Amino acid sequence: MLNDGTMKKMLMINGSPRNNGSSSEILNVISEKGVQKGFSCEKVNLGGLRISHCTGCKYCKKNGKCAIDDDMTFLYNKIQDADAIAFSVPVYFGAETGLFKNFLDRLYALVDNKDGVRTVRFGKEKKGIVVLNCNAPDGNMTYHGLMTRFVIVLRSFGVNDVSSGIIPKAAPETIRDSQFMAELLDAFEFQMS
Ligand SMILES: Cc1cc2nc3c(=O)[nH]c(=O)nc-3n(C[C@H](O)[C@H](O)[C@H](O)COP(=O)(O)O)c2cc1C
Repeated sequence: MLNDGTMKKMLMINGSPRNNGSSSEILNVISEKGVQKGFSCEKVNLGGLRISHCTGCKYCKKNGKCAIDDDMTFLYNKIQDADAIAFSVPVYFGAETGLFKNFLDRLYALVDNKDGVRTVRFGKEKKGIVVLNCNAPDGNMTYHGLMTRFVIVLRSFGVNDVSSGIIPKAAPETIRDSQFMAELLDAFEFQMS
């Protein structure tokens, strides 16, 4: 649906290198619900982008922007302009993908620290959605610590209203039948009401 500028925007980040895998399908399902809730939803596949790792140079602390000019440049604007941000990330060896970690680390450019006072430039007040998916049948329990970390990261950017879910035994063709996906959608529905 085209956004004439009046609709709320949901930016959806696929943290998998696979553009048509489970993480992507999870975002497809969320976007259908998001549209019902009045959002225009845009999915960004990190796998298709050029995103270097943060070099820790701290140029951003002096200049208010990242020294690296790559695909994060347009993503910073999209993040700031979004009314909701959704992360969908597969578990790789008990953590997020390297792709997604690079993206997260580059958000450091949106953090200011002047005279010991920390402020963030995350743009509009926004809601957050974080979804992890994995092969492990008990992943919904195993990866709670990982999920907590993402929720804390979002809170550190001022996103306090976060719904979250972990989809174990994930496969693109069965995501829609997953009881865990249904629970996540219920939480999302409640969050956006
Ligand atoms: C390199 C690699 C490491 C993985 N490590 C784990 C893991 O530690 N635990 C787990 O449950 N699944 C693990 N998986 C499985 C993925 O999390 C799972 O297949 C996920 O649904 C893939 O999401 P995608 O289809 O969006 O890429 C791993 C997969 C890969 C490729």
